[in-house]
Amino acid sequence: MSATLESPPTVEQTPGLIGAAEPSEAGPIEPSDLAGMPAPPAIPWPRLVQVLWFGQLQWHFVHHYRDKLGDVFRANAYVRGRTAITCHPDHIRSLFKAPPDLVPTLAAESPLRPVLGPRSVLTSNGPRHLRQRKLLLPPFHGEAIERYRRMIAEAAEREIGRWPVGRPLALAPRMQAITLDVIMGGIFGIEETPRPGTLEHALRLAIRELLRSSTLPGAKLAELMNIGHQEPFGLTKLGLMVPDRCLYAIIAKRRRAEDLDERTDIMSLIMRARTDEGETLSDRELRDELMTLVLAGHETTANQLAWAWERLVRWPEAHERLREAVRSDSESADEVLEATITEAMRVRPVIPMTGRRVMAPWRLGEYAIPADTAVGISILLLHHRPDVYPEPRAFRPERWLGHKPGTYEWIPFGGGTRRCLGAALAMAEQRVVLETMARRLDLEATTTKPERPKHRNVTMIPARGGRVVVRSRR
Ligand code: HEM
Repeated sequence: MSATLESPPTVEQTPGLIGAAEPSEAGPIEPSDLAGMPAPPAIPWPRLVQVLWFGQLQWHFVHHYRDKLGDVFRANAYVRGRTAITCHPDHIRSLFKAPPDLVPTLAAESPLRPVLGPRSVLTSNGPRHLRQRKLLLPPFHGEAIERYRRMIAEAAEREIGRWPVGRPLALAPRMQAITLDVIMGGIFGIEETPRPGTLEHALRLAIRELLRSSTLPGAKLAELMNIGHQEPFGLTKLGLMVPDRCLYAIIAKRRRAEDLDERTDIMSLIMRARTDEGETLSDRELRDELMTLVLAGHETTANQLAWAWERLVRWPEAHERLREAVRSDSESADEVLEATITEAMRVRPVIPMTGRRVMAPWRLGEYAIPADTAVGISILLLHHRPDVYPEPRAFRPERWLGHKPGTYEWIPFGGGTRRCLGAALAMAEQRVVLETMARRLDLEATTTKPERPKHRNVTMIPARGGRVVVRSRR
């Protein structure tokens, strides 16, 4: 890599670690063209086998069938009707760039819908989605997020200070304590952990309990029972009673607050926001939005951070480079930090798949699928394409030095009009927490064996929570 005056490279990228996929035509086609094109190859197993296999071992499932059937194949999933899975950047571009009414999100059909509610930005489609997204965008904008840096750093310092030295600990729950404080601070405008006896404290406990119960054996059953339901059902309904009661009480209290007009927290901003038609959000809409932001906004980031450390403690060169860069305050520190996060999100994307339902017949390379087919966009497979990422399973942050991730080749936050609303916040949290930890702690793995990916709801998390030992603290 040669140095230029505009951007002197401070650390060398290893050449040949970023490649490109062969072009593959994709996009909507005329119904008359559909008949002349073959359907993608299909997985032969019955739906129940596929749903269970995919649900428990998505990593294995998608890799197995990509090796056997190629970039595009047909599967039977928990969503209704036909499903195709793809991992080609050109196919993904066609889905992310299409007009939203041609490619509604599959999140609206996911078993999470009854938990988050049908009125949230994540679970709605069409005009409602556009309206909610417009209302929510400003407080999640990059500049607005800068305000949270201090809060994130303080939450990280507080948490790290409590960790034992010399004894194994699982990072995921520890990271969750930080990201839950951050998201609740940002949304409700509370500094530090909410005080016992407050409604926000009760909500924090209720959310943690809801997440804990989602790891119990019955949770999979509760999730499957929700399929096809708009509203929570059975065990899910029971699990939501306490958090919902807290949320509605917080909404009612905030509506009465005298300083509502001056407050800068996300909840007050979205309470005051008006659509072009002058409408504000109802209590039900606010509940769905707040539940979505709290749930989508902290477990994902926490597990992504746990994965970053799970990889770092097993790749000494990358670990040493990061430690050295942040501890010496070198000019390259930010670049190395960014490269480490980018690579962790590539090899272990905490959301391994997102999806759209195509409302027109669609070409996917040499194949075509009819209208009303669900298309699973395998983030996991895309990020492991050997043509795009030579040595795809290796953890090599240096592949990103001097190289920006491609919009359709690196998609841990999805893309298009449904791209993750919290991406700027999630990146800021990861930068601050990773930096603080690398500066202050010497961490080691508890085993040389990598942690297995475990699939829970729509997330992929380290099976043992990212276990490490703190050898020393600075
Ligand atoms: C590392 C952390 C995170 C990851 C990997 C992640 C990933 C994703 C992905 C893959 C999607 C679906 C995008 C698509 O279908 O194209 C999504 C959507 C969304 N995420 Fe995140 N997310 C993270 C953190 C957050 C945070 C911190 C928040 C909010 C506080 C958040 C809020 C949302 C919302 C509201 C949507 C729905 C957007 C829409 O449909 O318009 N996420 N996220």
